[in-house]
Amino acid sequence: MDAPVPELEARADACADALHDADSVLLASHIDADGLTSAGVASTALERAEIPHDVVFSKQLDEEELAGIAAHDHDTVLFTDFGSGQLDIITEHEAAGDFTPVIADHHQPADADTEYHLNPLLEGVDGGKELSGAGASYVLARALLGEDATDLAALAVVGAVGDMQTVNGELVGANTEIAAEGVEAGVLDTAKDLALYGTQTRPLPKLLEYASEVYVPGITNDEQGAIRFLDGLDVDLHDGGDWRTWADLAHDERQTVVSALVKRAVRNGVSGDEVENLVGTTYTLADEEPGTELRDASEFSTLLNATARYERADVGLAVCLGERGDPLDAARDLLSQHRRNLSEGLDWVKREGVTVEDEIQWFHAEDRIRETIVGIVAGMALGAEETASDRPIVGFGNKNDEEVKVSARATPALVDDGVDLSVVMREASQAVGGDGGGHTVAAGATVPKGEERAFLDTASDELAAQRD
Ligand code: C5P
Ligand code: C5P
Ligand code: C5P
Ligand code: ZN
Repeated sequence: MDAPVPELEARADACADALHDADSVLLASHIDADGLTSAGVASTALERAEIPHDVVFSKQLDEEELAGIAAHDHDTVLFTDFGSGQLDIITEHEAAGDFTPVIADHHQPADADTEYHLNPLLEGVDGGKELSGAGASYVLARALLGEDATDLAALAVVGAVGDMQTVNGELVGANTEIAAEGVEAGVLDTAKDLALYGTQTRPLPKLLEYASEVYVPGITNDEQGAIRFLDGLDVDLHDGGDWRTWADLAHDERQTVVSALVKRAVRNGVSGDEVENLVGTTYTLADEEPGTELRDASEFSTLLNATARYERADVGLAVCLGERGDPLDAARDLLSQHRRNLSEGLDWVKREGVTVEDEIQWFHAEDRIRETIVGIVAGMALGAEETASDRPIVGFGNKNDEEVKVSARATPALVDDGVDLSVVMREASQAVGGDGGGHTVAAGATVPKGEERAFLDTASDELAAQRD
């Protein structure tokens, strides 16, 4: 079987050799859906390769976190879904003999290099759209195990979807090769289907009412409207007294609903481009129970965010490793709280409004939105009707008494215009004594409290220069 991402084969083989040579490995990963699935893929691969290891998670790799990691007595540290952006500090530890770093990441690398470094951006593969942290970890797992790793492609796809790597509703580039390996291994199904969030778990009226992806007048945000629409169709969408879910519907029933929905959208003036967004490629985890969050890559990724972003990465990792029962129940409880937090956070931003400046629009949530989800809320706000999407959005939230978390989000159109938020976040935060990085379309930083204005000024200057 060929390497899934040939450009990365040499780097993956070198990393795999370094791991085989290790006495024991500390696997360190990021606390979001992509970071958890990265850890799930990497930990399973190490286990199968009989390489002893422990797993730790971190919100953000900084000097303090890295000092903590260096204090462990593992000779090798495998960083997944982060590490590239912190190469400058990591290589200092390497030089001091603290550990041998092995990195499987897709973030913009800092200005330094190390021997075992697997990152698509180093080989001309787009780390924002074509390969996630979990994808990079999968490439490493394939180098470690060959075909015995292909069942892990499903988790890698959950990571890519969780990092919003889909382009016009489907995975592209290296991600499609990984998805194809998952299909081949029988763990993944792909299909052209309704592209709304919640096809597995939401009763049909809720699915349509909450669909923020495409605004269909008279249905979106309109419970009674959604019910009237569904009741007017020539299919029985009930199961006894309950509404069925999308996953319950047969192929022809789905087609009836989709074509009626498209017709309604067109009649109500929804643009052709937006109507197209109603349908996309869906990624179904074939081995998971139908009607559960785990069955759909998008719902699975949100379930994972609901654990790790609330200091329960242990729960999310257990679910990634295939444990069910208690961890899954705990994850579901966390998910309902996460949903409440997202919707309250978004409502707050809509109510308070954002401050619109020439290059940027921003809000400061202080303690109203947890700093670990301020980026998700910023992304949702940028997509909301209430805010313009012609300039990037920046959200601030308090991290602790001294530091503020910053999350920035752009649109693909802005990126086409030259916007690179990873550079903006790094430069503007370093200018005020903080640090940051990320991707062109989504990036973050930590800055000292009180420096927000200075940070915004530098960020605006940088953005103006990028869009020249
Ligand atoms: O650290 P990491 O790479 O995992 O995080 C990527 C972040 O960027 C996610 O929170 C994801 O939601 C966000 N993103 C986005 N829009 C995109 C691509 C990614 O908001 N088009
Ligand atoms: O939490 P996560 O970053 O995976 O959310 C990605 C997107 O999924 C959000 O921007 C939101 O539009 C959608 N979502 C949703 N309902 C939820 C959670 C997420 O519509 N409960
Ligand atoms: O935290 P947030 O969701 O805003 O992160 C967006 C992206 O920026 C993620 O890929 C994250 O890993 C990255 N980031 C970073 N350095 C920071 C904060 C975030 O590289 N200090
Ligand atoms: Zn990632």
